[in-house]
Amino acid sequence: MSKAINTGSLESNPFADYHKRALDKIVRRAHRDKVGYFHATTEGTYLQVDKWFWTTGFWPGLMRLALNESTDEVCFNAAKEVEDEIFSLLRTDDFYELHHDVGFQFLPTSVLRYKQTGSCEAKRRGIIAAQLLAARFNVASNVIEAWNVPNRRGCSIIDSMMNIPLLFWASETTGDKRYYNCAVRHIESVLKHFIRDDFTVHHIVQFDQTSGEYVKALGGQGYSADSVWSRGQSWMIYGLAIASRYTGNQHYKDIARIIADRFLDLNGPHGVPPWDFSVPESHLAPRDSSSAAIVACGLIALGELGDYRARSQAENIIMQLSQEVACFEDCQDGLLLRATSDKPNEVHVSDSLIYGDYFYFEALQKLSGIGPHCW
Ligand code: GLY
Repeated sequence: MSKAINTGSLESNPFADYHKRALDKIVRRAHRDKVGYFHATTEGTYLQVDKWFWTTGFWPGLMRLALNESTDEVCFNAAKEVEDEIFSLLRTDDFYELHHDVGFQFLPTSVLRYKQTGSCEAKRRGIIAAQLLAARFNVASNVIEAWNVPNRRGCSIIDSMMNIPLLFWASETTGDKRYYNCAVRHIESVLKHFIRDDFTVHHIVQFDQTSGEYVKALGGQGYSADSVWSRGQSWMIYGLAIASRYTGNQHYKDIARIIADRFLDLNGPHGVPPWDFSVPESHLAPRDSSSAAIVACGLIALGELGDYRARSQAENIIMQLSQEVACFEDCQDGLLLRATSDKPNEVHVSDSLIYGDYFYFEALQKLSGIGPHCW
């Protein structure tokens, strides 16, 4: 079990002030909002979503991150209450709404609580979630299928790369290799079918659920099935870096490095990428700060695996986010402005996204040597 660590002085790093202001804002917001289920802001305010929505682990997760360096009781109680409510979904018909994103729901909540406190209850919840995720593995296609709805059967989505760490954690925690084997088989299928010749990645790939044969790539929140949706690249980079850490597989790390280089080349000097690199006049397109925050975490993870170029690239991104799109005041609920959820459907374009805030704060903590983290 990890203990909270603090190997860096908040006074001696260039992010110390941003870090402190972000922490203070999270704690202030916890005292105001306490228990809540969030995805995105509208006109600066986080609005409630259904408890089963894929993003609801990130607000309690942010409060849990705050608890890495604070003993704030409101954060502790509110994070636990939201986690309890998410876990209670398993006992109602909302169970049918849970899908591959149980990783995003239980890693920043139960698993992080287990890493922070050693709680047997938190561990059990994390293992139950991992069993749900492992049960999505289709032995024909060798992928974790993303959803339950009939018209999406056979589909796998790049975002799952960040849910897969739940399987690695469960395997490491229990010593049971079944979770590990599912995770590695899924990753091998993703490497084979999602990566294009130019080292960008598809968003969704459909397989025949019976034969397991590749059917086609599909568009999702990106511009088209062939486009380079920024956040999809980010999920892949960070997910592969984490998989390399758990498995020791150098190939995962090398591919993550190549995809990250491609992302950084496409982004050029811009700190905050467009929501999709393939849109016409992408320099004028709405930005997605969440994508940049996730890539920064991925680069930090690569840095921890010995890629020292990656660490300074992450620092550049976090500095640009801090200077250009972070908001440390309470006039907006979000920590990071200018994030885009779903441009094709005009849903939350240039708002704040709770996972953008989460990964930005995770990166700030990691750059200060503060943990543990959930992935
Ligand atoms: N589909 C999850 C995301 O917006 O990244």
